[in-house]
Formats: sequence, structure tokens, C-alpha cells
Amino acid sequence: MPAKSVFILGIESSCDDTAAAVSKNDKILANIISNQDVHKIYGGVVPELASRAHQQNIVPVVDRALKEANISKDELDAVAFTRGPGLLGSLLVGASFAKAFALALNIPIIEVDHMRGHILSHFIREDQIDKKYPIFPFLCLIVSGGHTQIVKVNDYLSTDLLGETTDDAAGEAFDKIAKILGFAYPGGPIIDKLAQQGDPHKFIFPHPKIPNLDFSFSGLKTAFLNFIKSGEKESNSFIEINKFDICASIQNVIVEVLTHKLIKATEFTGIKEVAIAGGVAANSGLRNKLLQLKKELNWNIYIPRFEYCTDNAAMIAITAYYKFLNNEFASQDISPQARL
Ligand code: KG4
Ligand code: ZN
Repeated sequence: MPAKSVFILGIESSCDDTAAAVSKNDKILANIISNQDVHKIYGGVVPELASRAHQQNIVPVVDRALKEANISKDELDAVAFTRGPGLLGSLLVGASFAKAFALALNIPIIEVDHMRGHILSHFIREDQIDKKYPIFPFLCLIVSGGHTQIVKVNDYLSTDLLGETTDDAAGEAFDKIAKILGFAYPGGPIIDKLAQQGDPHKFIFPHPKIPNLDFSFSGLKTAFLNFIKSGEKESNSFIEINKFDICASIQNVIVEVLTHKLIKATEFTGIKEVAIAGGVAANSGLRNKLLQLKKELNWNIYIPRFEYCTDNAAMIAITAYYKFLNNEFASQDISPQARL
């Protein structure tokens, strides 16, 4: 750790949440997020509306983060932003703001890969003394609305991709299934809540047969759609009558698919340090299954706090801190990228 404390302003605007955080070394002083309700009625994120909402939110969100952290902008050592992957229009708002802010303060900018941010959220230092942090190398299952990956994490800034989805992401599967059920976006948390009152073995869905450590969720979505159509032929109220069991059963399959590949990855690498990250890591079914696997297979498991699972800027600030220590700064002519 450097002799002087490092203060970083992190900005995350890759999708539909405008977020800013202030870090002091590996601790978070403020973590502010402004969710965009505007997408709810559309059943998914509307890119054009997202970038407009980011433009409205970014200044007040950054202002609040600095106030809550109780530091002045002149104390900042760097400004970090999500370079990608994400929606280009949304990324541009965060990147442009970060560049202008850093230029005005005459401090460096740091670009952050959103996926690495999700992984490094595990290293946000907590006051809790018995809190455990992953030991390198560890495996990380990143499950979000846009990605589903298993990576081997060798060090803070070095990872190997072991497997990923060939079509829909796990969060996308939750959201599309929720849409079929008539729920608002994002549907993952709604399914999770209803699933807690249902029987996970009431309805059976096919497990995708994908080789290696890759995933596929689009077949499951189609099977689910057919299941609902045939149920509705029997009764108009099929969903309403069975909603708890339907949610519990479909969540159970998604969790089984994810953890099956995770088990394979531990066998393949011999690594028993297992972390999860990303929005779907907030899912209670996945969390409970991991706790069960920890006992059965002797894993060390790492599950982030809820606010560090879904998109946030604390994970951008912590990643930037490790890049700062490594002198990895970006130049002002850098541009965001939808795919990294
Ligand atoms: O990481 P994230 O906030 O944004 C992306 O980078 O995509 O993940 C958002 C995704 C959405 O698909 C949302 O439905 C899902 O995470 N999600 C959940 C839960 N909370 C958020 N899925 C299942 N159960 C949850 N509790
Ligand atoms: Zn994310």
C-alpha cells in the first residue's frame, strides 16, 4: 500500500443504473446508485432512454458520492469509469464525464472492464474483522444480465476465461422468463421472491446439453414458453394459480445448470476457492445452493454483499485502485467499447 492514501472517484454507467463511488485505498467511503425506473414498462432496457437518464443523473450522483464520502474533489487522485462492455450510449456518458472531470482537476483517468469490476468487488475491504477474501487463484462465476462466465482469477488484473454462455445470459434468462409470466423488468428479483414460497420440484424443465464449461439458456426459455402455453390451454389462471411453484421450479433449473458447470470447473482446475459475482449472485436460490456445496465439497465460497452484486460503482473504484497501484492509467483519447 502506498504511504499516502489513494482517493478514487469511480463511475459506472454501462447499462441502466447511474452509479458513483469514492474509495480510500481498498475501502469504500460512499457508494451511490440511481436506478432508472423508466425501463420498467418496456420489459427491458431501452438504450436511448438509458443514456438520456444517465445524462440527467450523473452530476447529482457524483455530487452526492463526494458529499457522503466527506472529501473535496481536490483530494481525488484519479477518476475511474467503466469502459465496457455495455450500451455504447450509456458508456459514453460516464466516460465523457470522467474525462472532463479529471481534466479539470488535472488528475489521471483509469478505464475499468465492467466484468473485472464484478470480480474485484470481492476485495472491497470491510470493517468486519472475520471477513474472508478470496485467495488466488480462485474461480469466479460471473452471472449478470449480459454475461455468464466462469473465469480463473490468477491475480487482481489477470484472469483466464474457462467457459461462457453461447446465447442468453443467466440474468437475461430470468428476465425473459419473467416477461413471459407478465412480470416487470428486471424480473430476476421477482422470480427469486416468489420462488421462496414454491416447490422447486413441482415442474420439470430440460437441462441444456452443452459441452465443456459453456452455457446455453435460450432452449430453456423456449421450453418454458411452450410449458406456459400448454398450461394456459388448461386454465386461463394457470400462471396465477401456480406462480410460486413455477418460479421455484424454473429458478431451481437455472441454479442447477450454473452450479453443475461450476462443479465441473473445480474438478477441471482442482481449485476449491469459489466466488460468485454479478446481479444474479443476489439470487437466494444460488446463494443457498453454494452454501450446500461448500459443506458437501469442502469449498471456500465467497458471496458479495447484495449492493456489490448488482451493478455499482464501488467495484469500479476498487478495480481502479489496483490499476492505480500498477500505474495503469488511460489517455484522454480513449473511447468506450460496447464489447471488450
Ligand atoms: O450485474 P447486473 O446488475 O447488470 C448487468 O451487468 O447485467 O445484473 C442484472 C441482472 C438482471 O438480469 C436481473 O434480473 C438479475 O441480475 N438479478 C437477479 C436477482 N437480482 C438481480 N436474478 C435473479 N435473482 C435475483 N435476486
Ligand atoms: Zn454487471
